[in-house]
Amino acid sequence: MYGLVNRAIEQLVVATAGEPAWRQVCARAGVSPDGFIGMQAYPDDMTYRLVGAASEVLGHPPETVLRLFGEYWIVYTAEEGYGELLGACGHDMRSFLAGLDEMHGRVESTFPEMVLPRFTVRDALDDGYLLHYSSTRAGLAPMVEGLLAGLAQRFGTEVSIERVQRREDGAPEDVFHLRHRGPGVTAATSAEAASQAATEAAQAMARAMAVEGVGCPHARAAMEAAGRRK
Ligand code: HEM
Repeated sequence: MYGLVNRAIEQLVVATAGEPAWRQVCARAGVSPDGFIGMQAYPDDMTYRLVGAASEVLGHPPETVLRLFGEYWIVYTAEEGYGELLGACGHDMRSFLAGLDEMHGRVESTFPEMVLPRFTVRDALDDGYLLHYSSTRAGLAPMVEGLLAGLAQRFGTEVSIERVQRREDGAPEDVFHLRHRGPGVTAATSAEAASQAATEAAQAMARAMAVEGVGCPHARAAMEAAGRRK
């Protein structure tokens, strides 16, 4: 995965446990602690090794590390200059998720080595909705849960997230059932609106790429907030 993913893991570990812990993680994972280039593609295996080592050093199961990481990624992304991109891609959480697949698709066409997941939003039988997540990579559903929790924070909505279909059980893709309390959801976004949001997002992304590499001064506060909610 691209270096920006590995670097977010680094920042998560440093924010929660400090630099020495990050050096321990690198030693266990067999990875140089010298840092990652955000826009360079690294083998997926390296990311999985980092998550495994972070799990050992931080004393959380890998699923928890992935969940924290997903939530952190949204905060990290916003803090490091992708906030505009997040803001441009939908005015509520459901419309954001409806546009996410197209936004990811455009990112993929700009950076061909990226291998991105696919997301589809469908109505549920109740007032909630279903998010279908399909990926060539295995085991990242807990990270999606964290990403969704981070998004809920951003959109100022309370959401319950239930994984109702699991790849671990032989299903072809993971499916999450989301139910909002309060703001954060409107009627399904039209394809046109999703496309417009994706165009704006792609433009914002190009601007955001220019500022990557900036530090993340709010990381600790974000992690503490995440910890308080557990
Ligand atoms: C600012 C917004 C976002 C940007 C710029 C972005 C971009 C990216 C990039 C660059 C990767 C790495 C792909 C690779 O190296 O091959 C990635 C992976 C991923 N993204 Fe996004 N993303 C964003 C938001 C989200 C959100 C909100 C979600 C989910 C709700 C999401 C779900 C994922 C997942 C699960 C992966 C891991 C790869 C996989 O499942 O195969 N992303 N994204």
